[in-house]
Amino acid sequence: MRTRTQKTQPSLGDSLTLPCGEALNNRIGKSALSEALGTAEGCVTENLVRLYKNWSNSGAGLIITGNVMIDRRALGEPGNVVLEDDRDLNMFKRWAKTGTAHGSHLWMQLNHPGKQAIRGLNRETVAPSAIGFRPKLAPYFATPRALKAAEIENIIERFGNTAARAKKTGFTGVQLHGAHGYLISQFLSPHHNRREDHWGGSPENRRHFVLAVYDEVRRRVGNDFPIGIKLNSADFQRGGFTEEESLDTIRALAEAGIDLIEISGGTYEEPVMQLGKPKDSTVAREAYFLDFAEKVRAEIETPLMVTGGFRSLDGMQSALNSNALDIIGLGRIFAIEPDAPTKLLRGEETVHKVKPLSTGIKYVDRFGSLEITWYTRQLHRMGRGKAPVPDEHALKSFLFDLRAKGFGIVKNRLRA
Ligand SMILES: Cc1cc2nc3c(=O)[nH]c(=O)nc-3n(C[C@H](O)[C@H](O)[C@H](O)COP(=O)(O)O)c2cc1C
Repeated sequence: MRTRTQKTQPSLGDSLTLPCGEALNNRIGKSALSEALGTAEGCVTENLVRLYKNWSNSGAGLIITGNVMIDRRALGEPGNVVLEDDRDLNMFKRWAKTGTAHGSHLWMQLNHPGKQAIRGLNRETVAPSAIGFRPKLAPYFATPRALKAAEIENIIERFGNTAARAKKTGFTGVQLHGAHGYLISQFLSPHHNRREDHWGGSPENRRHFVLAVYDEVRRRVGNDFPIGIKLNSADFQRGGFTEEESLDTIRALAEAGIDLIEISGGTYEEPVMQLGKPKDSTVAREAYFLDFAEKVRAEIETPLMVTGGFRSLDGMQSALNSNALDIIGLGRIFAIEPDAPTKLLRGEETVHKVKPLSTGIKYVDRFGSLEITWYTRQLHRMGRGKAPVPDEHALKSFLFDLRAKGFGIVKNRLRA
């Protein structure tokens, strides 16, 4: 197992050396925000590159891209970028050059959605097992087909292939998306993974997939290149991935030599990654998953990033002081105040705060996608070279996005 190199109570401005030897300039990490700014063919657009001009100047030590798909046949949402071959490498190079222009690390988040792909977007939906969604989401997501063993091997290779291309085009690291109910997370979950072969059954078997993906990515990028993972502390779902299993998975990934573990939680069915869990101690400490991070830190030396809920300087510094984590993960603030880290690193609070959103219509709010649609709209505005509008009414963004996404799905269907 590789060991953490810095053990004293850090400040936000302190650098962090990762097990692979690379160093991050400070303790602020931008977590992945799916930009949905790719073309219908999954290519990088000028707007996507322009968006990263905002963030490369933000002062964050680490910038993690929104999820990039490893297989063109398996998109999670319209506008996903895909990296699987050489067709778009120059635009990926421009994206990487822009994102790293001011010394931040820029890691590409690699993802396969498995069953969490909007109905109709792909020709076919695949997952570890043919388990449909629970009734609330079943209208929006198809029941998947169970993957064949050879297809699983192919997906593992694809993770490695995309990682190698990320490195080749100038990204300075990769992060596996192992959280939020996508394919890696589905393999880990006893609810979604009912396989009886090498890839399912016991908790150890369900971990085979994530470990095989890690090994393949490491083989393709080498020992000096940062590999991270975003992992759920738990799925918060009946019969799902538990904290105990998450700890065991983290132990195994640490043993394998991973460089950074980002802790999150939840799935589309239980979106605690954005909404948090109603627990007093967590609310008092801002961040949703700090209690779990402490349990991890008690036995694992691999650098930890915790994302979800951080809002104030005090909340961030006390989390660092508690030594439960190494990197403060921030998501939505980057969509409304792209230079937030510069202020935080100067010891100033951000001007805006991430607040609960409501359209004023309960049915629409219950739809569950409001957080995504509202924040995505802010990203798109920045992509067009405009400033975000932090006080925009949630209903307006919901209606605009519904129109845009509906059209994206239709376009994709016609192509298939
Ligand atoms: C619009 C939007 C898109 C997101 N896309 C991703 C993604 O592609 N990958 C991912 O791991 N998390 C994604 N997230 C979750 C964030 O990375 C983060 O975990 C979450 O917003 C909680 O952090 P925060 O409270 O600082 O916003 C997304 C969140 C939002 C609002």
